[in-house]
Amino acid sequence: MPIGIMAAMQEEIDRLLKELAAGSEVVNDGRRTYHSGHLWGTPVVIVFSRWGKVAAATTATDLISDFCVTEILFTGVAGAAQPGLKVGDIVVGARLWQHDMDARPLFPRHEIPLLGRSSFASDEKRCDQLLQAAAAFLRDDLPKAVSESTRAAFNIQSPKAIKGDIASGDKFFAHRADRADLLLRLPTVAAVDMESAAVAQVCHEYSVPFTVVRTISDAADESATHDFPLFLRQVASAYSHGILERLFDDSAR
Ligand code: ADE
Repeated sequence: MPIGIMAAMQEEIDRLLKELAAGSEVVNDGRRTYHSGHLWGTPVVIVFSRWGKVAAATTATDLISDFCVTEILFTGVAGAAQPGLKVGDIVVGARLWQHDMDARPLFPRHEIPLLGRSSFASDEKRCDQLLQAAAAFLRDDLPKAVSESTRAAFNIQSPKAIKGDIASGDKFFAHRADRADLLLRLPTVAAVDMESAAVAQVCHEYSVPFTVVRTISDAADESATHDFPLFLRQVASAYSHGILERLFDDSAR
């Protein structure tokens, strides 16, 4: 049974597809393209999540219902919520929060109605494996995967991989005041994106293990969109490719 690999960026998909072993199958459905095959010996279905909570939740549901994936692993980029995180660092999601969920006064702020919880935990074992894979990628593979000039351009000096909470919602953070407000409400959050917690909820409801790894692309402030497309092409796609190679190749050994 395959693992569902969701990527939040088309640039990551393009890079991963070059690794998909010959004989892969393509299915188009609901404006999404599902690629079934093998990545470094592991059976996978790779798909672009599309952006935002609804899009990503729909893609995750399709992976579970139509492609019978046994788990979902999500890659992509995120904005740094904590000041200690820098562009080029990696966050492996520990707990996933929906920062825009607010059904007050029916439920406390951030609580997901009918589920009695405000966050979802990722699969602990896979999360630890991803953290190890990310750390090994940064330690041993980065100089080859991302050129010195690109690393210099994005000021990536000694990047680190951490386990941390991620908050998702239908909002791109581009103002430091919004980031500060988020941290007042959800102080454990390390990074922000627009999809992970929605997919975590789908996986929770279907009892499918979920993990997520995100490369920090910006500081979730006024500079957030600066060089964003270039970062996706030259850095983020190399990161997710390298981390998955480490994860699947090393676990096959
Ligand atoms: N993904 C990458 N950067 C982000 C940001 N600043 N806000 C939300 N999602 C993001």
